[in-house]
Amino acid sequence: MAREKCVLAYSGGMDSTISAVWIQEQYDMDVVTLTVDLGAGPELDGVRDRARQAGVTESLIWDVRDEFVQGYIWNGLKAGAMYEGVYALSTALGRPLMAKKLVEAARQVGATAVAHGCTGKGNDQVRFDAGIMTLAAHGDPLKIIAPAREWGMSRDEEKLYAAKAGLDVREVGDDQRVYSIDRNLWGQAIEGEDLEDTWFAPPEDAYSWTKPATDTPDEAVEIEISFEQGVPVSLDGQKLDGVPLIEKLNDIAGEHGVGRIDHLENRLVGIKSREVYETPAAVVLHDALRALETACLARDQQRMRAYVGQQYADLVYDGRWFTGYREDLDAMIDSTMRYVTGDVRVKLYKGSVVVTGRRSEYSLYDFGLATYSKEDEFDHLAATGFIDIYSLPARIQHRTQTMHDAR
Ligand code: ARG
Repeated sequence: MAREKCVLAYSGGMDSTISAVWIQEQYDMDVVTLTVDLGAGPELDGVRDRARQAGVTESLIWDVRDEFVQGYIWNGLKAGAMYEGVYALSTALGRPLMAKKLVEAARQVGATAVAHGCTGKGNDQVRFDAGIMTLAAHGDPLKIIAPAREWGMSRDEEKLYAAKAGLDVREVGDDQRVYSIDRNLWGQAIEGEDLEDTWFAPPEDAYSWTKPATDTPDEAVEIEISFEQGVPVSLDGQKLDGVPLIEKLNDIAGEHGVGRIDHLENRLVGIKSREVYETPAAVVLHDALRALETACLARDQQRMRAYVGQQYADLVYDGRWFTGYREDLDAMIDSTMRYVTGDVRVKLYKGSVVVTGRRSEYSLYDFGLATYSKEDEFDHLAATGFIDIYSLPARIQHRTQTMHDAR
């Protein structure tokens, strides 16, 4: 009888390569690796060779960057989903898509198990497991293997294991810091090493997408971003698809030191962790879209969008992507975005993003009503009637009851 198969989510890194060997040994299964390309860049070079070295039977590489942008990143952006106000959810938005692709690949190659490299301490295991279990609820059962959660090896034991398996794991010199990094098009998350001391300022070598303010250009740059129904469609008048638009903006904003976040974060599993992020494009796009909303949305819509944004951020962070509630929020947000179309100008300078202009054919800003100049069309006298009725309940209450402050 043929051996059962397991599809392993494979980044090409040391942990993931050891996992490929470990699953073959511990579970007596064939391993098919699936590398999901979410825009991590050159990191994926040589992935097939490393998988082959680990003895896998097949290695798949799927470029899902477009799907990631259209069906995940833009949803988060439109929702204004910034976890705890600062984290654009780059890793968290990628996980449900990876879970979906793992299940698809498993069905395609006839696997009975899928595997991911998460430890038992983070949020990602929850996002993967919940996503996989939900999507595999129809059809044959799919076992989930999480080697790093199961094997109980320390970092040094992992290295020994790798050496015994004949894997080349000389990744960095011993004198260099080895952060745990997860990256995709929407940003990178950096943890570990000295960052585990919350008082320690992130050293320069933790960053690779953004320049320190001391090295950025002394001239500010101004860029114009155009949105259609809440989705960015062009930069400085040049139409761009989502992937190149984000890539380009990551470069420009990173060059000006924009997008560094140092956050002490509440994990779903109950612990607080220090996480450093670099999300240049995300920071600029969130700020720009919020600015456009101030023109195109009515006050109540803005208030609701802010509330929904927080709900959405928690839901994505907590791995509840494949739920009816998320679809409901998407529908609500898309409705809110119907007229959020227009241009925003932002200035990038020494790590800061400042919105310097916004305009839209659907802008609710009315010059004639807002101006203090001669062109003023606002009926000043109508204000007195408005205030008379508006203040009525307060006046009645004050007259009839014992009020403390105003006496
Ligand atoms: N804290 C982030 C999240 O839960 C990122 C997790 C992955 N981080 C890492 N450095 N490997 O979404």
